[in-house]
Parts: sequence; C-alpha cells; structure tokens
Amino acid sequence: MFKFFVVLFALFLFLNAISSAQRDEFFYDGFSKAGNNITLNGSAKLVKDGIIQLTNTTNRVMGHAFYGFPIRFKNSANDTGVFSFSTAFTFATVPEFKSLGGHGFAFTVSPSNNLSWALPSQYLGLFNSINMGNFTNHVFAVEFDTVQDFEFNDINDNHIGIDLNSLVSNFSVPVAYFTENSTKVNVTMKSGSTIQAWIDYDSANCIVNVTISPFRSKPKLPLISYSLNLSTIFLEHMFVGFSGSTGLLASSHYILGWSFNMSGPAQSLSMAAVPSLASSSHKPGAILIALSVSFSLVLLLGIVITSIYLVRKIKNRDIVEEWERRIGPHRYSYKELKHATKGFRDKELLGRGGFGRVYKGFLQKSGVHVAVKRISHESRQGLREFVSEIASIGRLRHRNLVPLFGWCRRRGDLLLVYEYMPNGSLDKHLFDEPKLVLSWEQRFKIVKGVASGLCYLHEGWEQVVIHRDIKASNVLLDGELNGRLGDFGLARLHDHGSNLSTTRVVGTLGYLAPELPRTGKATTCSDVFAFGTLLLEVVCGRRPIEPEAQGEELVLMDWVWDKWRQGRIVDVIDPKLQGRFNMKEAVIVLKLGLMCSSDKATARPTARQVVRYLEGEATLPSVLGLPNESGDSEGFEDFVHTMVSSSYDLMSLNSDIVGDASSDNAYGFLPTSPLPFLPVRGVTT
Ligand SMILES: *[C@@H]1O[C@H](CO)[C@@H](O)[C@H](O)[C@H]1NC(C)=O
Ligand SMILES: *[C@@H]1O[C@H](CO)[C@@H](O)[C@H](O)[C@H]1NC(C)=O
Ligand SMILES: *[C@@H]1O[C@H](CO)[C@@H](O)[C@H](O)[C@H]1NC(C)=O
Ligand SMILES: *[C@@H]1O[C@H](CO)[C@@H](O)[C@H](O)[C@H]1NC(C)=O
Ligand SMILES: *[C@@H]1O[C@H](CO)[C@@H](O)[C@H](O)[C@H]1NC(C)=O
Ligand SMILES: *[C@@H]1O[C@H](CO)[C@@H](O)[C@H](O)[C@H]1NC(C)=O
Ligand SMILES: *[C@@H]1O[C@H](CO)[C@@H](O)[C@H](O)[C@H]1NC(C)=O
Ligand SMILES: *[C@@H]1O[C@H](CO)[C@@H](O)[C@H](O)[C@H]1NC(C)=O
Ligand SMILES: *[C@@H]1O[C@H](CO)[C@@H](O)[C@H](O)[C@H]1NC(C)=O
Ligand SMILES: *[C@@H]1O[C@H](CO)[C@@H](O)[C@H](O)[C@H]1NC(C)=O
Ligand SMILES: *[C@@H]1O[C@H](CO)[C@@H](O)[C@H](O)[C@H]1NC(C)=O
Ligand SMILES: *[C@@H]1O[C@H](CO)[C@@H](O)[C@H](O)[C@H]1NC(C)=O
Repeated sequence: MFKFFVVLFALFLFLNAISSAQRDEFFYDGFSKAGNNITLNGSAKLVKDGIIQLTNTTNRVMGHAFYGFPIRFKNSANDTGVFSFSTAFTFATVPEFKSLGGHGFAFTVSPSNNLSWALPSQYLGLFNSINMGNFTNHVFAVEFDTVQDFEFNDINDNHIGIDLNSLVSNFSVPVAYFTENSTKVNVTMKSGSTIQAWIDYDSANCIVNVTISPFRSKPKLPLISYSLNLSTIFLEHMFVGFSGSTGLLASSHYILGWSFNMSGPAQSLSMAAVPSLASSSHKPGAILIALSVSFSLVLLLGIVITSIYLVRKIKNRDIVEEWERRIGPHRYSYKELKHATKGFRDKELLGRGGFGRVYKGFLQKSGVHVAVKRISHESRQGLREFVSEIASIGRLRHRNLVPLFGWCRRRGDLLLVYEYMPNGSLDKHLFDEPKLVLSWEQRFKIVKGVASGLCYLHEGWEQVVIHRDIKASNVLLDGELNGRLGDFGLARLHDHGSNLSTTRVVGTLGYLAPELPRTGKATTCSDVFAFGTLLLEVVCGRRPIEPEAQGEELVLMDWVWDKWRQGRIVDVIDPKLQGRFNMKEAVIVLKLGLMCSSDKATARPTARQVVRYLEGEATLPSVLGLPNESGDSEGFEDFVHTMVSSSYDLMSLNSDIVGDASSDNAYGFLPTSPLPFLPVRGVTT
C-alpha cells in the first residue's frame, strides 16, 4: 500500500515536471539562484544581490540576458496562432550623468539568443544597420528608451515602444502609470529607482498590454493596449530576454527580477532597490564584517564630524585650506562674492549651462562688474587639481579671451570670477529672432578675433591649452563687439573626476570632431573642428544641428557641403543679412569652415593657418576651388567627408553632451531658393 503511494507520488511529481516544462513558466525574484537558466552575454553580468546588470556606464557596449531555453510560442501542427503569454520584470536605469541617460533596453522575443552581430547605441543591441526593419528578423520587442533617436522617429527621451523587426516603433508613449482613480502619473525611467513592467499578450483578441508602476501591485489600467497579431512575427520556438546598450552617453541598466508565464498572468515581483555598486569586488561575507565594523566607526566619525561642522558653522567663516594659499593671490573670499552678487539672487542670474550657473555681480572694492560662475563638484581631490590648473590657465591674457579675475572655493563649490561681457554670448545674436542682427563686418571681426584667441591658446603660451568646448554660446561679446572665448580649460573638470580610468568625451553635440568618440582624446585638431562649425554658424545664422529640419538640412555642415557641390553656396548665407555682405570674405569663411570640419584630423588647418587665411595673408588651397568653376572637386571631396553624421551615433543624442542645454526651442528659417539679387553661379574667390 505504502509502495503504491510512493509510486503515485513519484508519478505525480513526474507529470508535474512535464507539465510545468510544457507550460513554460519561471519566476526569479533576484537571479542569484538562476544558474545557467539565464544566459548572459556582452556586457551583461550578475552583480550584488543577484541583480543582472545589462550594461555599466562604459560607452558603446551592449548586454544580453536571455532565458536559456527556447519557449514554444505556437503549435505549427494545427495553426492556432501564437499562445498567450504574460511577463513581469523589475528594472532600474542609473545614468552616468544625472538626467542624461543612454541608451535604453528592450524586452525581446527573438528566434535566437545569440545577437553577437547586433550593434550598441541606438540599435539597443538588437539590430544592426543592415537588418533593421527586415521582416525575416522575427523580432518582437518592447523598448524602454531613454534617448530620443531622430533616426527612428522617437517621440522623446523617455518612452516605451512596441517594436516589430525594427526600432522604428509601431506604437510608443511617454512613460507613465495610472493610479486607482485613473489619474495618469509620469515616470522618469532614468531616475535610477526601481520600476516594474508587465507585458501581456492576449492571443484570442490579439492585444498586447504594457503596464508600468513604481509599486509592486499592478495598476488596473495598462499604459499601452495595442492591437497586434504576432502570428507572422513569432516562429514556433523563440527566446525571451533583455537587450540593453549604451552609446556616447551611458546608463547602467539593471534587471532585478523577472517572471514569465504562458498559462496565466505572471506573478508580480518585489521592488528591491539597486544597491550602491561602487565597490562590488568583495566577497559578501567580508562585506558583512566590514560593514558591522565600519558602522560603529562611521557612527563615531559622524559624531566627531557633526560637532566639528557645528563649531565651524558657529564661527561661520571661510575655511581656506593650505593648498589654496599656495595657489596664490587670485582667491576671493566667499563673503565678497556673495555680497557682489546680492546673495546669488535669481535676479542676477545671467544664464546656466552644463557647468553651473552664472551670476552678474559688482565688486565694490575694485568697482568692476563681474560674472561669477558657480560650479559644483563632487570630488574634493579633483577640485584641488582643477583649481590649480584653472588658476594657472587663468593667467593667460589675450584680447580675445574672457579674462579670469580669480576664484573661490566654498566646500564642494567652485566660484570663478570673470570680467563681465556686456553684450552676452554670440548665439543670442545669431539664432532665432535676435534683438540685434550682427552685420557682416561685425561677424567677420568676431570670427577673426576668436581665431586669434584660439591660436593664442594653442601656440601662444608655455603649454598648449585645448579649449574642448568651442561653440557659439562660449563666445562672448565685449562692449566693442569683439569676440572673446570663454570657459577655456573648464572642460578639464571632467577629467579630474573620481574615476580616472574612464575617458569621457566632453564637448557639445554638433561641434564634436568625429575622431573624439573613438579616441576620447581632445586635441588642437578637435578644437579646430569645432571652430569650423562655429564659422559655418556665423555665416549661415543657423545652429549646427536643427532637429526640426529634414534630411540633409538637419546637420548644418552636410547642408553647406551639399549646397557647395550644387554650386549654390550663396543659398546658405544668413538671410537676416538681407544680401549685405562681402561675397569674397563670406566664401573664404565658408570654405575655411568646411576645411576645418574635415573628417581627417590631419587635413584640418592649424589655428595659426586659420588666422592667416582670415587675415588674407595666405590664400586657401586651390583644390578648394568651387566645383562648378574648375570641375576639380575631387580633391575637396577627399578633404571633407560628406556624411559625418553617419559615422557615429551623434544623431541619436538629443541634447548637448556637456554644456548648455538651452537648445530645445524651434528655430526659424531655412532658405530654399537663391536670393534673387545675388549671382548664383560664376562666383569667384
Ligand atoms: C532551470 O530550468 C529547468 C527547466 O525549466 C528547471 O527544471 C530548473 O529547476 C531550473 N533551475 C533553476 C535553478 O531555476
Ligand atoms: C564595466 O565593466 C567592464 C567589464 O566588466 C569593466 O572593464 C569596466 O571598467 C566597467 N566600467 C565602469 C564604468 O564601471
Ligand atoms: C492541435 O494538435 C494537437 C496534436 O498535434 C492536438 O492534440 C490538439 O487537440 C490540436 N488542437 C486543436 C485546437 O485542434
Ligand atoms: C553566435 O554567432 C556568432 C556569429 O553570428 C558565431 O560566431 C558564434 O559561434 C555564435 N555563438 C554561439 C554560442 O552560438
Ligand atoms: C556571446 O558573445 C561572444 C562574443 O562577445 C560570442 O562569441 C558568443 O557567440 C555569444 N554567445 C551568445 C550565446 O550570444
Ligand atoms: C532581409 O534578410 C534576408 C535574409 O537575411 C536577406 O536576404 C534580404 O536581402 C534582407 N532584406 C532587406 C530589405 O534587407
Ligand atoms: C509596424 O511598422 C512597420 C513600419 O514601421 C510596418 O511595416 C508594419 O506593417 C507595422 N506592423 C503593424 C502590425 O502595424
Ligand atoms: C486621484 O488620487 C490622487 C492621489 O492618489 C489625487 O491626488 C487625485 O486628486 C485623485 N484624482 C481624482 C480625479 O480623484
Ligand atoms: C507628463 O508627460 C507628458 C509628456 O511627456 C507631458 O506632456 C505632461 O505635461 C507631463 N505631466 C506632468 C504632470 O508632468
Ligand atoms: C488589456 O487591457 C485592456 C484594457 O485596456 C483589458 O480590457 C484587457 O483585459 C487587457 N488584456 C490583458 C491580457 O491584460
Ligand atoms: C492572426 O494572424 C493569423 C495568420 O495571419 C491568422 O490565422 C489569425 O486568424 C489571426 N488572428 C486573429 C485573432 O485575427
Ligand atoms: C502562472 O499562472 C498560473 C495560473 O494563473 C499560476 O498558478 C502560476 O503561479 C503562474 N506562474 C508564474 C510564474 O507566474
């Protein structure tokens, strides 16, 4: 009798195992016990507490995490369509720079778990440029995208989309969830907090639902309810998993838990938070001991630090460290600057950029107007190196550089005091509807000035100073409308961060030389590249990238180059000039702009050569002759690579990488026909 029950029980277990295998379901609230059932590839790895890290903040990597066994999604013997399925997972996206995420990840159902031929960045590790959109891909994906790729018509930089064989989503919405009373609440994915997602496919009605919540319980209303028949997409056996990628900008993408079910709704998961993973190379046991020991130490230290802090606060004076005295006399007291800017009042705010806020101030003692730039920096050590460097660079004096008067450090804040430039930055006078339209003479004077300032930085001093962030908003205009370069050396701040092993590309989208993302090393050549873009901007009165424009007109340089080849270069000249400009000078500046923007770093002129061309002391190389004039445009073709934009994923970024983030409004015009009062062909230089 007993034997009979044992056999029955074993049979029950056996049948259960079979049926569970057939039903295809799994539940991982943490992956530490998942073993080989989850395959990780690319940058994906298991980190602390059994969390899958699809990517870390290394640039241009992709990571894949797939369930190790193929899942049967339909029965080809009798064509009853795709089975229903349901999945839930928790994820977190922690960007390298706050609010600048990249690129995203996707829940994926694909015929293979070997996607080693896919590309990172905007392709999310799912496709490459050749197979994008091909119906033979048989890929269904739900993308969680934190970058707006214009190439794929993305709606914003925080959306969820339904993708079929392509990253051009068939349907996408900004991320949000519905509360009990059906109120829509927005969710920012790159906030770093844990978010749960549910994806349910109902095969009878052919509907896919996507639901999001920052909580454990599933909202009643889905965010997406999209009508879709997956029969033609799915093969009989498919792999399910996740694919994430990073580009020039990077986020760590984490999957914290995952459940999948083909016979009912997938169980929801707990909402663990991503622990701080800064030092994850220790063994868990060691961590526990270290934690308990260090906890008491930290407590003690906390008390000591708090009392020191309180004592200091009572005294309320500027704490000047020894190293600051060594750096020298440029130091201002915090009190003086606070007074000068009326307590850093918002009314005194001149602007804000990637580095910090800029306030207008008046120094009573010396009776001069100043601009005070306030920068926060998390690393004390980095700040110290940076201050000594900025103080030494700040000794540079040239009539086309914005003079640095001095600096001040207040805890983690660095305050830089510059001469006040009454006419603001160049971009305000070029784009949109400027109050004051700069005449051609003024523009030509400004570019000549900036070129000479750049030449001084590169060659005029005992060491080469690379500006790294030349752009219209970093060119300031003084009382006589002289162009002066500001913020030189500031980009170095990012080099003095805590992690010296990573090279970050610093600069602004549209001004970045193509070799920069590859080498990560700024050179005088990359400065010249950015200057070339600036030249084109000044002549065309247009931003380097116009997100509103279509095709060729999107990237200023490509557009100018195109017009040049068509022999219609006059079309690009700013219509706000109303035809009042010196043709010879304008063509020189345009040519020089294209030459500086060459793809090949070695083909670009040096800053000194640029000055000589602009001053008319040298004539531009003859291969640069207008194509319709000499017919010899081949040389120039080699000179300037046509599609810079296609050589890397700049187009997939929606804003500055580091720098002013003020370029989000719409810009006006683009001339399409030649101006009637100007000769179009036969232009001579
Ligand atoms: C791995 O998957 C197999 C088959 O689905 C299952 O029997 C086994 O329990 C799983 N192992 C783990 C550790 O999840
Ligand atoms: C990312 O992971 C790779 C390999 O695991 C490692 O070499 C790299 O240093 C990591 N990058 C960061 C920014 O932690
Ligand atoms: C589908 O075919 C299987 C055998 O291949 C059979 O057992 C099942 O009843 C069929 N289902 C339907 C709905 O015809
Ligand atoms: C994955 O695919 C690549 C090429 O597509 C191939 O070289 C490699 O062997 C495959 N790996 C596995 C584990 O199948
Ligand atoms: C994992 O990646 C390596 C190369 O990065 C590739 O050779 C291998 O085929 C991949 N395996 C799978 C299962 O994708
Ligand atoms: C789609 O992929 C198939 C097989 O990989 C290939 O033969 C075909 O040319 C591709 N079609 C397109 C439009 O890329
Ligand atoms: C999805 O979009 C692609 C083009 O972007 C289109 O070819 C395809 O038919 C769409 N599929 C569905 C089911 O709407
Ligand atoms: C719905 O609930 C939220 C709080 O959960 C509340 O702020 C909101 O006013 C409510 N809306 C309606 C229409 O009741
Ligand atoms: C939520 O996001 C949408 C789209 O991004 C936006 O239009 C709306 O103003 C946001 N709502 C709130 C309350 O922030
Ligand atoms: C999908 O959402 C709709 C409401 O929009 C609901 O009626 C339906 O039952 C949902 N389907 C699944 C499979 O969750
Ligand atoms: C989905 O498409 C398949 C094949 O195209 C078809 O047989 C099936 O009836 C469709 N399902 C629904 C619900 O329309
Ligand atoms: C799958 O659905 C069945 C039926 O609703 C349920 O009993 C089971 O717990 C679910 N499994 C998972 C892993 O969600």
